[in-house]
Amino acid sequence: MKIGIDKIGFATAQYMLDMNDLAHSRGAEPEKFSKGLLLQALSIAPITEDIITLGASAAEKMLTQDDKENIDMIIVATESGVDQSKAAAVYIHHLLGIQPFARSIEMKEACYSATAALDYAKLHIGKNPDSKVLVIASDIAKYGIGTPGESTQGAGSIAMLLTKDPAILVLQDQSLALTRDIMDFWRPNYSTTPFVNGMYSTKQYLDMLKTSWDEYQKRFNKSLADFAAFCFHIPFPKLALKGFNKILDKSLPEAIKEKLKDNFEQSILYSQQIGNIYTGSLFLGLLSLLENSTKLQGGDQIAMFSYGSGAVAEIFTGTLAEGFQQQLSKGQDRMQELRQRIPLSVEDYERIFFENALLDENGSASFAEYKTGIFALREIFEHQRIYQKVTVNEK
Ligand code: CAA
Repeated sequence: MKIGIDKIGFATAQYMLDMNDLAHSRGAEPEKFSKGLLLQALSIAPITEDIITLGASAAEKMLTQDDKENIDMIIVATESGVDQSKAAAVYIHHLLGIQPFARSIEMKEACYSATAALDYAKLHIGKNPDSKVLVIASDIAKYGIGTPGESTQGAGSIAMLLTKDPAILVLQDQSLALTRDIMDFWRPNYSTTPFVNGMYSTKQYLDMLKTSWDEYQKRFNKSLADFAAFCFHIPFPKLALKGFNKILDKSLPEAIKEKLKDNFEQSILYSQQIGNIYTGSLFLGLLSLLENSTKLQGGDQIAMFSYGSGAVAEIFTGTLAEGFQQQLSKGQDRMQELRQRIPLSVEDYERIFFENALLDENGSASFAEYKTGIFALREIFEHQRIYQKVTVNEK
């Protein structure tokens, strides 16, 4: 049975920070961010937007009523969850109005877990061919003002509907995972921002890419020439470019290398405007590739490198369905949407960064009005997060 991605949706925050403004404020040369990291802007989430509102918005845009009646599992992959106990998927199940007889869970392993979620979804559909599974990768990346990681923050969510006979990408069975117990990036329960060994993390990313790709090729007798494109986890686009250069086989014919290079460039377009969205960033790269490349066709194979600090990596692959383009938005429309985000001054960005829920003695808090996507966090009432669908007039 063919199982894979039938629909893919995306949501990001409605505010953005221009990298040039951040550079000026931090005393860095603008080229450090534009050329050194290949970043142009970052999405910034206000307090009324979290991984639940972003995830629900990404899914709502793509689901039909029929989908909602047939989804029987929702998996949210995240490393910036809002509750240690209750899964974000349970809130999203309610907000989207999914039929009741569904399993709703959250998965974690830094930026990697949406890859495991896809595999679980595939196994589930293998056993229940008529079911549909909603996989959501949703994160807000916050490193801290003035830290080296600050310039790679971001916010966003990718929602994927998994079905049999998918309209976009058939997931293949062959994959190769790799685990190393390392401290490159981690966030203990008592900290709102991560601890990061930045340079070490980039070295591990590249080394785990090389190690897993070498082993994948050996085990499954594959080479880069079998693939039309290679998508990477994109903590910042320059690191993905380094990864691409690391695996690029210089002995490949020039035409194949050119196609791979061109497709790589299409895959980083959205991340350059949004920053790191952790669990979703590999799939944001896939979305950017599929919506912007003119060099892909049905039957093409796409390889993917998933990386989550700590660390787990995986190489997995998919085959494009015939007519996959019809299931997607146009790249220029997506870029237009991104241009509509509200630009923030560095001062306003810092104010939003430090805004916390000020709970009263009953554990309740209300928030200032901010622009959000389709859903917003309205208030906290006696320690319970209260979400609402935003009406058109409010938006
Ligand atoms: N013009 C052009 N380029 C310039 C420049 C200028 N004026 N000034 C600096 N640069 C270049 C540097 O040469 C460097 O490029 P190369 O790596 O190609 O040499 C680049 O800009 C970055 O500059 P620095 O090396 O000085 O590094 P930095 O202070 O910006 O920090 C970082 C980089 C440590 C990666 C930091 O961004 C960070 O800590 N990021 C968070 C951690 C991260 O993203 N790790 C990735 C792997 S872990 C992972 O993948 C999981 C995840 O999502 C977090």
